[in-house]
Amino acid sequence: MSSKLLLLFNNIALFSVIFFQLKPTIADSNNIVMRCIDEEREALLTFKQSLVDEHGVLSSWGREADKRDCCKWRGVHCSNTTGHVKVLNLLTSDEENARRKVLKGEISPALLELHDIRHLDLSNNHFSASPVPEFIGSLSKLSYINLIKSSDWFQVVAKLHSLKSLVLRSCALPPVNPSFIWHFNLSTSIQTLDLSDNNLPSSSVYPWLFNLSRNIIYLNLGSNSLRGSIPEAFQHMVSLKSLDLSDSELEGGIPKFFGKMCSLKELGLSENKLSGQFSQVIQNLSGGCVVNSLERLYLPYNDFTGPVPLLGGFSSLEALKLHFNRLNGTIDKSLSQLSKLESLSLDGNSFTGVISETFFSNMSNLQELFLADNSSTLKLSDDWVPPFQLKWLSLASCKMGPHFPKWLQTQNQLVHLHISNVGISDTIPDWFLDLSSKLSYLNLSNNHIKSKLPDLSLRFDGTRSGGTSIDINSNHFEGPIPPLPSNSPFLNLSKNKFSGSVTFLCSISENTWNFLDLSSNLLSGGLPDCWLHFDSLFVLNLANNRFSGKIPDSMGFLNNIRILNLHNNRLTGELPSSLRNCSQLRVLDLGKNTFFGEIPTWIGESLQNLIVLSLKSNKFHGNIPYQLCHLGFIQVLDLSLNIISGNIPKCFNNFSAMTYERCSNPTIGFGKYILVPPRTGYYYKYLVNLLLTWKGSENEYKSTLGLVKCLDLSSNKLGGAIPEEIMDLVGLIALNLSRNNLTGPITPKIGELTSLDFLDLSTNLFSGSIPSSLSQLSGLGVLDLSYNNLSGKIPLGTQLQSFNASVYAGNLELCGLPLANMYPDEESTPSPGTDDDSDTLEDEDDQLITLGFYVSSILGFFVGFWGVCGTLMLNRPWRHGYFNFLTGMKDWVYVIAAVNISKLQRKFRN
Ligand SMILES: *[C@@H]1O[C@H](CO)[C@@H](O)[C@H](O)[C@H]1NC(C)=O
Ligand SMILES: *[C@@H]1O[C@H](CO)[C@@H](O)[C@H](O)[C@H]1NC(C)=O
Ligand SMILES: *[C@@H]1O[C@H](CO)[C@@H](O)[C@H](O)[C@H]1NC(C)=O
Ligand SMILES: *[C@@H]1O[C@H](CO)[C@@H](O)[C@H](O)[C@H]1NC(C)=O
Ligand SMILES: *[C@@H]1O[C@H](CO)[C@@H](O)[C@H](O)[C@H]1NC(C)=O
Ligand SMILES: *[C@@H]1O[C@H](CO)[C@@H](O)[C@H](O)[C@H]1NC(C)=O
Ligand SMILES: *[C@@H]1O[C@H](CO)[C@@H](O)[C@H](O)[C@H]1NC(C)=O
Ligand SMILES: *[C@@H]1O[C@H](CO)[C@@H](O)[C@H](O)[C@H]1NC(C)=O
Repeated sequence: MSSKLLLLFNNIALFSVIFFQLKPTIADSNNIVMRCIDEEREALLTFKQSLVDEHGVLSSWGREADKRDCCKWRGVHCSNTTGHVKVLNLLTSDEENARRKVLKGEISPALLELHDIRHLDLSNNHFSASPVPEFIGSLSKLSYINLIKSSDWFQVVAKLHSLKSLVLRSCALPPVNPSFIWHFNLSTSIQTLDLSDNNLPSSSVYPWLFNLSRNIIYLNLGSNSLRGSIPEAFQHMVSLKSLDLSDSELEGGIPKFFGKMCSLKELGLSENKLSGQFSQVIQNLSGGCVVNSLERLYLPYNDFTGPVPLLGGFSSLEALKLHFNRLNGTIDKSLSQLSKLESLSLDGNSFTGVISETFFSNMSNLQELFLADNSSTLKLSDDWVPPFQLKWLSLASCKMGPHFPKWLQTQNQLVHLHISNVGISDTIPDWFLDLSSKLSYLNLSNNHIKSKLPDLSLRFDGTRSGGTSIDINSNHFEGPIPPLPSNSPFLNLSKNKFSGSVTFLCSISENTWNFLDLSSNLLSGGLPDCWLHFDSLFVLNLANNRFSGKIPDSMGFLNNIRILNLHNNRLTGELPSSLRNCSQLRVLDLGKNTFFGEIPTWIGESLQNLIVLSLKSNKFHGNIPYQLCHLGFIQVLDLSLNIISGNIPKCFNNFSAMTYERCSNPTIGFGKYILVPPRTGYYYKYLVNLLLTWKGSENEYKSTLGLVKCLDLSSNKLGGAIPEEIMDLVGLIALNLSRNNLTGPITPKIGELTSLDFLDLSTNLFSGSIPSSLSQLSGLGVLDLSYNNLSGKIPLGTQLQSFNASVYAGNLELCGLPLANMYPDEESTPSPGTDDDSDTLEDEDDQLITLGFYVSSILGFFVGFWGVCGTLMLNRPWRHGYFNFLTGMKDWVYVIAAVNISKLQRKFRN
């Protein structure tokens, strides 16, 4: 059978990094003079001949005298005892790849001469056109093969009879066609198999899985699409030490046979749909020897219920992760005998009762403790000396306080401390700042901490790689902002009472800040003019302060900035053209200031990545520049409350993101991984919130901002007709053109804006009749056509009649339901074609201005698009192995990821 296998050696950077960290290639020794084996040199040169090497990647390969030692060639490593080539690694770096410094051409069978080769990696090159060399399966000693995106990877793998370890993590493997399976003889020697994160369905995994040998030790099938209950067949893999089936769609319980798997040390079933009484799970596992062997049990993000029974029998247990299930009852007795426990996470359950010091008295090895989200009340006395030294501690939303927990003073190895929303209303004690020199994450947000902030730069500015991220938002800190550590990736000081200027920023010359949020304080003075040093900033939020003066030119040096928020300050002047250099901007919010001048043309020319642009409530004048139409990604464009005149440009149909209805990401934000060596990392995500005005009331959008496609040009001096091109923006959820001088009829094409939830055309000079197509907008929750010159009958149909009459008020010649009986004001004449009692309606008209009406119409808006897109958000799977602390998410959400590099390393060492 000729297998025309297509290889796209397209590598996943992380995978390579991790892998090579774990399996270092065999290093050339400087001391040993070594000549490579002649046949192998020739084979490699033949291999080179069949390649196209435009950039001299393989220039060290050659016949010249000084190149004779092929073991010194790029990518070639030989055994220092036998001289045979053991490793051929021609993976190109991403950077080289970006510069197209890659190899092309065919993979020559000459490689077969390399009898001893164990490790072959040709990824990230462009062999896409050549068939998969079938001979690769004949390289009998190969134990590492990186076959990315091979359409028939399984056939190749199946030929590797002596394969011990196969890692094809995140390779986007195509599903195996089950009918092929039986033709192949999967290696019986395989011990390590990692096919995680390939989206493989059960149907392509299970059939061959159970032909795997009894020798398999480590099996990772996490982040695929396995369904149904956990198959019984796993019980035959008697050598299994580690099984990872996390992040799939497995259902049912944890079968009893696991109890008899005497080698099993690690069982990972996080993020599935497993369910049942947790006490039953423990009973199932207690039926045999696994009680003694099990060291790590990961069951977070499932649906286990009920209390946690006594676990004392699991004497080897080092890690127990049960977070985000539906467990309840008390835990004070059930876990306290686990003296080997190093990691315990119980957050996001519904435990009751009090955890006291005795709970921890045997846990002298504990290093990670996660009890966030109501998991329990802690009663720990001030003079308690814990038996452990924690590295990770999260007690967010646990009941503590009002004082700083004094026992923390003993924990001087802390890397991560998260005690937001725990009811502390103390001042920061002196000892707290000297707590741990290793702290990389400190979260004290949402407490009532009242004091000046000490000089954090002195305490947290050490030599630690990565710096300390600090979040103290939503407290009562006051006074000036002290110097801040220059190497913090993430600083959130928002929602406090900090005052004074921020000129201290200019004394920080070198810094590695990524996120800086000083919003919602009482800060004043001019914006500092020293942004040259802040080019690592991704997010800068200075909104809701009292900053005054102009935007300094040096802000143009923020060339990595994605989100710039200066909303609601006292800033003025024209926008400096240097801002055109901030070409990475996704969100620019300059609303509620007194900026003036014309809307700069460079916004459209240079800031083409913008998703959100708000210039609302300023003093911009002149026309809307047609260059703005270059903003193809724009989803929210708010130019309202300015003095913009002229016509609406015809090119608005170039706003491509508004021309499709597909729900995008529900949030708009920016995230970044920051690794904290050696074994953890954080994922910081900043979500943009924006105030949008519907019906004269401002509403904050954050968790759904990404779904809002909105064009707001209201309260300007725009004239002319609505360009028909606007009707191409069929993704629009909200269109507000009210309070302008727009003229002409309302085009019937308005019926094409089928996503519209909000339409306000009020207070313009529109004339003619209301097009009947408007009644087809079944999702319309808010409509306002009042105060125009509309005439004729309101089209019939349930939709338009369901609105309150005020929606049509102030159009003297409009008639029909719901206006039928209505006299909008005293001067107006009864609408033609109506009759009957007309007395009580003025009252009703007044009520329209009450808050109740506004609130309910806004609710309607939310419900409207949640119905369509809400599931999208709820269904988004969390990446497995990450801890999520979605607590205290007032303005920021952190999804803090413990990138389980250590877990990976452990596994590879098996
Ligand atoms: C190769 O040589 C190095 C240094 O002399 C040594 O540490 C290593 O174990 C050797 N490797 C093999 C496979 O013999
Ligand atoms: C399967 O592998 C075994 C052991 O290596 C070998 O003896 C046998 O011939 C193989 N069978 C097939 C059909 O390739
Ligand atoms: C694989 O397993 C299936 C069913 O369990 C069995 O019918 C088949 O013979 C096995 N194949 C090999 C090569 O062991
Ligand atoms: C306990 O084991 C039985 C038999 O394997 C299984 O059907 C059941 O789902 C398990 N229960 C739980 C809660 O894991
Ligand atoms: C735990 O929750 C279940 C319902 O899910 C309830 O019936 C039971 O009483 C609760 N137990 C405790 C101890 O709160
Ligand atoms: C601590 O361990 C000892 C010995 O195993 C045991 O007797 C004691 O009950 C444990 N303490 C707690 C609080 O469980
Ligand atoms: C914590 O419990 C309170 C009531 O006991 C509840 O209102 C709140 O939503 C809970 N918080 C979390 C994060 O579960
Ligand atoms: C509309 O035009 C009229 C006269 O042309 C002018 O008086 C009025 O101020 C304009 N309104 C707006 C909102 O521009």
